[in-house]
Amino acid sequence: MTDAQTPLVDIENVSIAFGGIRAVDGASVDLYPGEVVALLGHNGAGKSTLIKVLSGAYKRDSGTIRVNGEEATINNPRDAKAYGIETIYQTLALADNVDTAANLYLGRELMTPWGTLDDVAMEHSAREVMDRLNPRFQRFKDPVKALSGGQRQSVAIARAILFNARILIMDEPTAALGPQETAQVGELIKQLKSEGIGIFLISHDIHDVFHLADRVAVMKNGQVVGTAKVTDVTEDEVLGMIILGKCPPGAIPGPGAVN
Ligand SMILES: Nc1ncnc2c1ncn2[C@@H]1O[C@H](COP(=O)(O)OP(=O)(O)OP(=O)(O)O)[C@@H](O)[C@H]1O
Ligand SMILES: [Mg+2]
Repeated sequence: MTDAQTPLVDIENVSIAFGGIRAVDGASVDLYPGEVVALLGHNGAGKSTLIKVLSGAYKRDSGTIRVNGEEATINNPRDAKAYGIETIYQTLALADNVDTAANLYLGRELMTPWGTLDDVAMEHSAREVMDRLNPRFQRFKDPVKALSGGQRQSVAIARAILFNARILIMDEPTAALGPQETAQVGELIKQLKSEGIGIFLISHDIHDVFHLADRVAVMKNGQVVGTAKVTDVTEDEVLGMIILGKCPPGAIPGPGAVN
């Protein structure tokens, strides 16, 4: 079992190059249960590549990944899922024309002993998981294309946690949302945290990050400039980390810090 002292995920000194480009160059970052860690950095800093190593989309050249304190072998997305690592892509990857329950069980449908789809069981557990995440959600009969952006987001997250994800990767979850829906995603994240789920959040919106994350990790040129609790640094200081690679006193410097 995990406790508050063992990171859910510990990424240590991970590197990956494409041709001559060191997309991620000796990056280390960890994530604790119930914690949101935001990955920040300019375009091309290496955020998505690092997270794709964790989700099994890319195979790292070197470095170690530990899950719950034990070294993890992650060579493909299936391996990552087996460790409870799920990614919520910005596109959400929902099947627009079918309802919430059908989306939650897409490709892994529950069957009756007679070999037919068990719609009753699927709807029952869909209601259970959505009640946990988003108690006001009622639109179980509608195709998901009729739902709001925030509601669609909750369906995508429900699909991940239905299969026991403990580690969620969210790539720009609020980029396409209005203020009200962004607030809704904030509520979802709060609920996930209270269940001990850890979240890596990729975002370009510093204001959102300060609102949603516990810690930030700033990347530049494939390296980590530094990590900090959001309570130990200001938004301006984090901007300085992103733009100049300058690590403020409240942050723990990484190999990418200039001083
Ligand atoms: N599949 C790939 N093949 C070749 N180069 C790649 C590949 N993926 C990423 N890169 C390069 O690796 C570097 C890091 O890119 P990455 O997508 O991780 O950045 P990012 O921080 O996610 O940026 P953004 O904010 O634009 O999403 C960039 O120089 C990019 O061009
Ligand atoms: Mg990216």
